Amino acid sequence: MTALENRDYFTDPDIARDPYPFFEAVRAHGPVWQPENRDYLIVTGFDETIEILNNHHDFSAIVGLAGAAAPLPFEPIGSDITDQIEAHRAKFLGGDQVVMLDDEPHTKLRSLMNRLFTPSRLKANEEYMTALAERMVHDVVAKGRCDLISEIATPFVTLVISDLLGVPAEDRDTFMQLIDASPAPGNLDASLNTHEGETHPMVAMTGYFYRYITERQENPRDDILTELAGAEYHDGTRPSMMDLMTLGVFMFGAGQDTSAKLLGNSMRYIIDVPGLQDQLRADPSLIPAMLEEMLRLEGSTKQLSRLARRDTKIGDLPVKAGTKVLMGLSGGNRDPGRWENPGEFQLNRPKIKEHVAFGRGKHVCAGAPLARAEVRIIIEKFLEQTAHIGLDESKHGPASQRQFDFEPIFIIRGLSELQVTFTPAAGFKP
Ligand code: HEM
Repeated sequence: MTALENRDYFTDPDIARDPYPFFEAVRAHGPVWQPENRDYLIVTGFDETIEILNNHHDFSAIVGLAGAAAPLPFEPIGSDITDQIEAHRAKFLGGDQVVMLDDEPHTKLRSLMNRLFTPSRLKANEEYMTALAERMVHDVVAKGRCDLISEIATPFVTLVISDLLGVPAEDRDTFMQLIDASPAPGNLDASLNTHEGETHPMVAMTGYFYRYITERQENPRDDILTELAGAEYHDGTRPSMMDLMTLGVFMFGAGQDTSAKLLGNSMRYIIDVPGLQDQLRADPSLIPAMLEEMLRLEGSTKQLSRLARRDTKIGDLPVKAGTKVLMGLSGGNRDPGRWENPGEFQLNRPKIKEHVAFGRGKHVCAGAPLARAEVRIIIEKFLEQTAHIGLDESKHGPASQRQFDFEPIFIIRGLSELQVTFTPAAGFKP
């Protein structure tokens, strides 16, 4: 039988559903290790993960979407393959997406994107989120139960990003259906990846963004799509229509599953860690610290990949240009060299915000403040409106023998469903 550490991270459904034993088995060989029969390194060390994510000179983000196992579309030659990467960029999956760009093209697009999320827009969006959360949570608490993922988490994050960007209310249902129909990136089930060409939901969404951007160019409004439509790079040049549409769709899609799954992962602990929900109800100012610990312990992005573009080192280990690297964020965030009792949930760990759940360096998550606000607000509302939140034991089993279904996806750590039950708070009006 193949040892756990030599099994295939990218295709093994057991590892996709529970990545932690795999990363521990890999870690037993050191913080950076190459399994048998694989052409990439796996990094489980916290320090090494940060070192790579900060080393933009030697590591390219180009393999991010396809993952480290995907073959390169060229044969690397020499000690610096930067020019080869650029010459073949169009052949990499999602090679034009902001998250895959390197150097100046990334800096230009990223600084344009940063300017879109102004504090006043985020504040207005937070007011929208609070009212929406209040309403959605009220409806399910009145019902006494819900599937947290499909009834709350997914529609909530879709509506919030739609509001922030300025996607018209009448299109939001269509977007929710398109998201529902999209295979999640990193899905192991090839039969789900059947949408091709013009019919792919992402292509349909690009069509909508084309319409929004041209409409805003003719009739500006007070929303992010208008900012996007008139955006200039910091050198005064204008992005192409294709760049604007690609960025719009990426911003729309980037935080969907990740934020929704973080809510599910967090609620599971809120329910099952003894005393936690009462503690948070009594002092909601602890919710942000709880969320940081959740990002560390059950962060919804399990891995990132990079490609060494120059001969370099990770720590003292020489790494040749052309080497692919899989960084297990779920491993780095549980590195016992950095975190005491790493597999345990602990509220208020010192320096908890150093976790790598949002990545690090130039590509660090642009939506982290939004994700934190979304999940915090919805949890606040659940705790406000309930006296107790429980799990449906006919689905998830008794407290001593819980059963959960995790998505069989190599990128995302998240529950397929979480059936929760509610005892309304005193004074709750159905
Ligand atoms: C819990 C929720 C989220 C998690 C765990 C998460 C995680 C990450 C990670 C790990 C990266 C780094 C990718 C890399 O280095 O290759 C990233 C990048 C990014 N995220 Fe998030 N994300 C979340 C929510 C969001 C939301 C709500 C948005 C909405 C705008 C968003 C937008 C982005 C964008 C645009 C990038 C690319 C940044 C760049 O390449 O410069 N994310 N995210």
